[in-house]
Amino acid sequence: MTSYTPSNSLAIEADGLVKVFGEQRAVDGVSLTVPQGAVYGVLGPNGAGKTTTIRMLATLLRPDGGSARIFGRDVVAEPTAVRSLIGVTGQYASVDEKLSATENLIIFSRLLGLSRSASRRKAAELLEEFGLTEAANKALENFSGGMRRRLDLAASLIATPPLLFLDEPTTGLDPRTRAQMWETIRRLVREGATVLLTTQYLDEADQLADRIAVIDRGKVIADGTSDELKASVGLSALQLTVADPSTLEPARALVSEFLSRAAGRLIEATVSPEAGRITVPLDDPSLTADLLIRLRDNDIRIEEINVSKPSLDEVFFSLTGHGAESGDSEGATTDSERSAA
Ligand SMILES: Nc1ncnc2c1ncn2[C@@H]1O[C@H](COP(=O)(O)OP(=O)(O)OP(=O)(O)O)[C@@H](O)[C@H]1O
Ligand SMILES: [Mg+2]
Repeated sequence: MTSYTPSNSLAIEADGLVKVFGEQRAVDGVSLTVPQGAVYGVLGPNGAGKTTTIRMLATLLRPDGGSARIFGRDVVAEPTAVRSLIGVTGQYASVDEKLSATENLIIFSRLLGLSRSASRRKAAELLEEFGLTEAANKALENFSGGMRRRLDLAASLIATPPLLFLDEPTTGLDPRTRAQMWETIRRLVREGATVLLTTQYLDEADQLADRIAVIDRGKVIADGTSDELKASVGLSALQLTVADPSTLEPARALVSEFLSRAAGRLIEATVSPEAGRITVPLDDPSLTADLLIRLRDNDIRIEEINVSKPSLDEVFFSLTGHGAESGDSEGATTDSERSAA
């Protein structure tokens, strides 16, 4: 890691940030508190204001209102100090197309003050880490989109700054490269870096981010750990698979009745006959034991039981009233069958 030791305990403190484009308040009072040494996820649908927020935090865009500090340094008053503390993916987009990946990385390393031999070493290291060793001597003009993204992230890691802004770093990557990228992000954080990550993949935020802010229409509408966000919408579900398909309907009726009585309102269980499975929303997981006893007393044998939290996708939907993306929701949910039920 860098030799700089930030004294301020917060990596980012944003207070009511505003950015107006024409009539539109693209960012409308965003406040964020990001502790050091963590991955902070920013989730939001297209046009929510994520990139605009990052650009203000990274001193690339002047806020129209509010303020922000990076390790205690004000983004408007001390942009040079702030820039020395951050890395932003996307800022190396203007690399030389005729030069090879190695040459490009060496040039950036030299620009950042590394010696010739250190630059060479760093370039080789980063190319290896991002699976680009074989393409090291290819001219950039022959790179695919995914390779460019990887090179872009590699370039942003030359100086390993204490705070990294990663704006959708894995969009469009194949699953293997994506997993590799996650590993790199985890390693950086283990080594002390702080990462602010925007993503359109809810499972990515779920797996990587210690805390998540959900942004919609320029405002933070929820924040917390993934578990806190899930708990806040109270969508846990109990799934039971019966051993004997003929007991499915009596089991459904019993589950529904039992949980409705406990909750004091109607709780409907749904069945999936092909799977022999009953799914029911569950406010209080501690009821599960009594429910199982009741089923056994009624000679209903249960083959499999599973209490699941909602997917972040469902949380997102419940918070914003719409999905994370307007179109497809690739990689977004693992519990689609449940939400469909
Ligand atoms: N330079 C600009 N001039 C005018 N409008 C802009 C500009 N940059 C962004 N906007 C608008 O501000 C809003 C927020 O855009 P932003 O890029 O911050 O969203 P985002 O959350 O990053 O979206 P995405 O998920 O698509 O990347 C959008 O409506 C966008 O069209
Ligand atoms: Mg964006």
